[in-house]
Amino acid sequence: MSKEQNSLMDKIVSLSKQRGFIFQSSEIYGGLKSAYDYGPLGVELKRNIMNEWWRAMVHEREDVTGIDASIVMHPKVWHASGHLSGFSDPLVDCLISKERFRADKAPQPKSGDELPITCVDKGQAKTYHQAIKKRFDIELQRNGKTLEGLRVIDEKTFGFFEKDSDEATATFPYAGYVGPTFGCPFLSEERQFNLMFRTQLGPVDVLNRISKFMEDNRDADSKAIREGVDGIVKESAVYLRPETAQAMFVQFLNCQQSMSMKVPFGIAQMGKSFRNEITTEHFIFRSCEFEQMEMEFFVEPGTQREWLDYWRDKRLEWWKSYANHPEKFMYREHDADELAHYADACYDIEYEYPWGYDELEGVASRTDYDLKKHAEHSGAKLSYFDQQKEDPETGKMGWRYTPYVIEPAAGATRGLLVYLLDAYHEETVKDAKGNDSTRVVMKLHPRLAPIKAAILPLVKKEGLPEIAREIVSDFFKAGINVKYDENHAIGKRYRRHDEAGTPYCITVDGQTKEDGTVTIRDRDTMEQERIPAKEALRIVQERLINS
Ligand code: GAP
Repeated sequence: MSKEQNSLMDKIVSLSKQRGFIFQSSEIYGGLKSAYDYGPLGVELKRNIMNEWWRAMVHEREDVTGIDASIVMHPKVWHASGHLSGFSDPLVDCLISKERFRADKAPQPKSGDELPITCVDKGQAKTYHQAIKKRFDIELQRNGKTLEGLRVIDEKTFGFFEKDSDEATATFPYAGYVGPTFGCPFLSEERQFNLMFRTQLGPVDVLNRISKFMEDNRDADSKAIREGVDGIVKESAVYLRPETAQAMFVQFLNCQQSMSMKVPFGIAQMGKSFRNEITTEHFIFRSCEFEQMEMEFFVEPGTQREWLDYWRDKRLEWWKSYANHPEKFMYREHDADELAHYADACYDIEYEYPWGYDELEGVASRTDYDLKKHAEHSGAKLSYFDQQKEDPETGKMGWRYTPYVIEPAAGATRGLLVYLLDAYHEETVKDAKGNDSTRVVMKLHPRLAPIKAAILPLVKKEGLPEIAREIVSDFFKAGINVKYDENHAIGKRYRRHDEAGTPYCITVDGQTKEDGTVTIRDRDTMEQERIPAKEALRIVQERLINS
């Protein structure tokens, strides 16, 4: 990331804390790595994003129905979906720097390439130089903060070459990649690392059984002990869901039958998911606990491509419709080698984050993989019978088939980060004394804004607070989240609400008592107009609807 891009992330992190969007989890205890709490404004923003998604995906459509499933599901769900076997990353440790990283994402120098180990500074270069000498009995050439002399020989070997020599004096097995930060090829074996959080269900403490097993098997070797303990743990193991999607497959029949849904139709769900991510990064972009908004759309086999394109376009438009910079959103089709095991095609909807384009939502064509797998593992008949359709194999009326699935799977918390980045705006304005000052405005879409309007008595006396509170009460009755705010000078209050993203400030002043009017200030243009106080609610409602 460039300095400027870095500073945008820093500004978002700092404003999030100051204004109450996002806090570090358990901050007073030193914080919990990669866990975040959504503060007074963050919780409203997150709910608004998720409610808008629900409105667009469920309420405004006749062909989609919703569910809210439990986070802990039957463990067989994860066997059937492949998560227990496949939902793991190959993980590697650098033997020198101790960096831990995903093998499948690491840089892959090819035969003949030099393998310079690039350290942070000369001191670190000296330490790594000594560590390599001690462990591998070779003396790399030190060139400032870089260690030189290693080169890839072929797919399976790298070697150490003395300066200006073409003959390797020592060779080592090559994994095909190097550590991403330092470029070091001295690596541990790959280990599979399951991304699902495991916990135990049931009243019996599994530790009692494990200690009993250990006592009974004092002489067993480490492999036998591991297998024995693993077996005990697995008996009562359950998992926190790593995606909301599986519940929609498991409840396919119940939803279809209870709501008499006809293919094509969808089941939507939003809520928490948990992944024991190896690399948590970029604030809330990738965290271990996050929220998703997913929909499984069941279609007739053979129609999946047109529905994939339909949902790709719909979802991209949805994200753009709340953005100040719609040009920063795009879609990218997956190459064949990127596709998940269940997909025959997939698009990522991407956003231009400060570090470049990256994923915001996946729109995948998941074939009939999931329904078939759950049918196989559960014995349930997860198929659909269409009386009006001819069976393509028999030519007779009535066709029973396993529907194909298109899945738009979005990150709600990741979407929140995107809209914070999109909203952040700085401009130079004159302060009360006529000096230049920086105004920070969160240009959040009015329907996403945590507080819709601030109701401000100009002064805390002369009956103005009472009038302001009457206006607040009108808004409350209409279910619109507004805030009464009388602390500090009016200019300071405007600035505070600019940073909170409050689209309208309604100010009660001396004139209100004379003619019943108030001012309404627009957050983005800072323009103010006088409107009748009694009309404030209707005017804000209309602006929210038309925004
Ligand atoms: N059911 C398919 C599925 O879960 P995914 O691409 O792994 O697909 C969908 O996740 C979306 O969930 C991603 O596009 C991203 O927005 C969000 N997401 C995934 N992992 C995340 C994490 N660790 N932290 C925050 N958001 C995450």
